[in-house]
Amino acid sequence: MTLDTATIQAALPGRPVHFNAQVTSTNTLAHDWIMAGGAAGAVFIADEQTGGRGRLGRGWYAPPGTALMLSVVLPPKPDWVSWTAALGAVAVGELLESYEIAGVGIKWPNDVQIDRRKVAGILPEAVWQTDRLGGIILGMGINLRIDFSSTELADKAISVETVLGRPVDRLDALVRLLRRVDHWLAQPGPTGLAAAWQRRLNMIGEPVTLAQGDSVVTGIADGVDARGALLIRRVDGSVYRAVAGDIAVGV
Ligand code: BTN
Repeated sequence: MTLDTATIQAALPGRPVHFNAQVTSTNTLAHDWIMAGGAAGAVFIADEQTGGRGRLGRGWYAPPGTALMLSVVLPPKPDWVSWTAALGAVAVGELLESYEIAGVGIKWPNDVQIDRRKVAGILPEAVWQTDRLGGIILGMGINLRIDFSSTELADKAISVETVLGRPVDRLDALVRLLRRVDHWLAQPGPTGLAAAWQRRLNMIGEPVTLAQGDSVVTGIADGVDARGALLIRRVDGSVYRAVAGDIAVGV
């Protein structure tokens, strides 16, 4: 279905909605919105991004109309800054589960997977105005109809429609997703969210390799701590506390 601002706005009354066929990055639009004093709740959606951004300074691209790409402006609540990525991952996981998709998991910290293949990525950004938190951006990119089956990513990436075997209405997916985002934001704090995130984390108890720039840590993924850091038990028994990086199964 082709999206447009009026149709999306009708489905999401009461929140500022901005749809564009092509943008550099929805996170950039959300950033500009916050800097201009725009209200929390605003959502920026695009059919295509020419400068889409991913974690760790990487790019993120999907052909026009094949993904649900959006950025939501969250209220400037400092407690939520470090939990924004988890919020996005859990909300996307719940969206997939609402379609009765099995095998949904989260690869620490915030890749959403189906049967261990990436279906969505999350890009959180806190926007500081000097020393004041102006707002938080929750950027989400969900593969809906990219066919990875005959590509080199076939065993690493997957799309929702491939799993369901039927088309998914992007507007319906957007409404369901924002409902879950709003649900978690309405909670008094991140405790329940942290539990929902942990429940879906995969690779816990398995041998893993964590790459952080030039350094590599190997061991067993023991679990996460109260702040969401991944605890990796090395072979010598010491525990490494990871706060960022790329994790892969196997050592
Ligand atoms: C990742 O997996 O590394 C995160 C990808 C996040 C992509 C989304 S698409 C909408 C929003 N705008 C961006 O530029 N990035 C996020």
